[in-house]
Amino acid sequence: MNFYVLTLFPELITQSCRYSIVGRAIMEERLTLEAICYRDFADENRKRRVDDYTYGGGAGMVIQPGPIVRSFRSIETRLSPRRRVIYVTPQGRLFDEQLAIELSQEDDVVFLCGHYEGVDERALDILNAECVSIGDYVLSGGELPALVMIDAIARRIPGVLHNDESADIESLSDGTLEYPQYTRPVEFEGRRVPEILLSGHHANIGKWRRGQSLMRTKERRPDLFEKLELTKEDRMLLIAAEDEKTQQQTV
Ligand code: ADE
Repeated sequence: MNFYVLTLFPELITQSCRYSIVGRAIMEERLTLEAICYRDFADENRKRRVDDYTYGGGAGMVIQPGPIVRSFRSIETRLSPRRRVIYVTPQGRLFDEQLAIELSQEDDVVFLCGHYEGVDERALDILNAECVSIGDYVLSGGELPALVMIDAIARRIPGVLHNDESADIESLSDGTLEYPQYTRPVEFEGRRVPEILLSGHHANIGKWRRGQSLMRTKERRPDLFEKLELTKEDRMLLIAAEDEKTQQQTV
């Protein structure tokens, strides 16, 4: 799978992707990442300037259509028919784990990053870009959202996570939040690791964790909890988790 990011700040993209899981996946050639700079495709005689005043007046600058369309065309012949072109904007559809899974199945994903007030609308029309947002807040540009999406998508590409990093047991994949985790020491500032986790009884540990996941989801994300279809056992494990918590709070 190949990511292309069209941006004013190519180093921000390439440097950030040198680390952690995405960095390793690039080294292992499970994905490629290329950042293309709009400035390399500036209009003639503009000395690499790519932004200009808004027609109709108003604050802020807009990125011109020429540099955006030309930077896209510079990679277009290399794109597979299985590709998606995404304009990163707070006006887009909300990015979520489901969309990450969907995009991880494409051959190529191209991100167009805006900056300043935005980009000339004609470029988006010509490139037929889908609008995607990472949340209801406004960032200074599309680069950080593109990096967020690249990370989430990369984790869904087969082989990117190694055996012990499986995505499926983590938060949100099955609609629940992850259970609490503990490591050594067994006691820290008077707080002990839950005894069940020291028992070595894997079936019971699995049930305890499921109960904790359900309780967390109910407390922290009632919107997700509402959508769950709980089995009879789930209901019992949730009640057990809630009872255990009440008991701890009364001692
Ligand atoms: N650009 C600026 N803010 C953004 C957001 N929240 N999501 C996607 N792109 C953005």
